[in-house]
Amino acid sequence: MKILITGGAGFIGSYFTNLLYEEGHEVFIIDNLNPQIHGQFKYDSFLYKSILNKAEFIEEDILESKYLNTIVNKVDYVVHLAAETGTGQSMYDISNCVKTNSFGTAVLLESIIKNRSNIKKFILASSRAVYGEGKYYCIEHGNVYPDARKIEDMQKGQFECKCPFCDREVSSLATDEKSAISPKSIYGITKFNQEQLVKTLCESINLPYTIFRFQNVYGKGQSVNNPYTGILAIFSKLLLENKEINVFEDGLESRDFIHVNDIVNAIYYDLLINKKNKIYNVGTGQKTTVLEIVNLIFKNIQSNAGYQVTGSFRAGDIRHNFADIQAIQKDLNFKPAIKLEEGICSLIDWIIISNEAEIFKKYEKSLEEMKNFNLYFEHNVK
Ligand SMILES: NC(=O)c1ccc[n+]([C@@H]2O[C@H](COP(=O)([O-])OP(=O)(O)OC[C@H]3O[C@@H](n4cnc5c(N)ncnc54)[C@H](O)[C@@H]3O)[C@@H](O)[C@H]2O)c1
Ligand SMILES: [Zn+2]
Repeated sequence: MKILITGGAGFIGSYFTNLLYEEGHEVFIIDNLNPQIHGQFKYDSFLYKSILNKAEFIEEDILESKYLNTIVNKVDYVVHLAAETGTGQSMYDISNCVKTNSFGTAVLLESIIKNRSNIKKFILASSRAVYGEGKYYCIEHGNVYPDARKIEDMQKGQFECKCPFCDREVSSLATDEKSAISPKSIYGITKFNQEQLVKTLCESINLPYTIFRFQNVYGKGQSVNNPYTGILAIFSKLLLENKEINVFEDGLESRDFIHVNDIVNAIYYDLLINKKNKIYNVGTGQKTTVLEIVNLIFKNIQSNAGYQVTGSFRAGDIRHNFADIQAIQKDLNFKPAIKLEEGICSLIDWIIISNEAEIFKKYEKSLEEMKNFNLYFEHNVK
């Protein structure tokens, strides 16, 4: 198979490139080596180096690519991963996020249609961010989809979501693909926008497509721009350097963490066997709180540092989310194989040897920027 991966030098893209290469496929990548992901010395980045000689690599911005019009007639499949992925950053760097994610997808689809490309399938990496807070249960109103949490409530330490009808606290349920779409960040809006562009265009020209809504993906080389996948790397790095961890909210916020190897296997099964136009959640279906993460890291690291639950919080963050993965289990026989503790251990091993100094700088810079724009609320409990 010949596959074009946009953003193929990124976190998920580089793992997918390696998988396809090992399976004997021909990979073409368009990626602008965004310095936020690849750092100042982009050709030295862990991710970029991992794809060297495994694909035909074109360093271009998807929005201005000259090569795109040629490549869409050379390949059998397009896997669209290129995106601005910082959820927090999307709340102030709005035009950049909309430009790359929404407009970038438009440019790619336009190239497919104008060049009368004969690709067999289009795959889009979307996100659980399209659901916003996701699905919850109210004892009076049944299944509900809460609004964004109020800053005033969170300042009082009330972090749980509330029923949009009676204001009672509600409990989180596994979010399935039919759950309400209700993004709470600009990033989430652009991911849904990408979905609509792909679904509408592909259906109108009879081009098969799959849209994946990934949960929080983690693994070696991961980006720390995403606050909740980032914490695995950031917390490990802090503890390794005997620095205290600042746990946001009350530490009971939760996520569904899935290892990048499981993600790329899901995309690969889809390319091999799926004939339907579908939207799938991809996660483990398990929710893990931030405090559980902290404990798992402590268990596997030698450190003199501790942690503090500070009650600080960021606008645009959601409270809980875990995926209902029945659809992908049924159609693709998908079973996540990597247990969280196993994945965390290999992530820690990587952080120790890779000496990723940039991890802190990026994290601290993102918090500083959010503070400047009144999107980060610091709560000192000392
Ligand atoms: N990692 C996650 O937890 C997660 C969760 C849900 C969805 N996703 C989605 O999966 C996809 C891949 O995510 P990732 O974690 O690998 O992100 P990443 O940031 O590591 O990779 C994105 C790649 O796209 C490239 N890129 C950015 N803008 C570009 C442009 N204008 N032109 C060309 N290349 C450009 C970057 O240089 C980078 O190599 C994204 O669409 C993201 O929204 C990721
Ligand atoms: Zn209610």
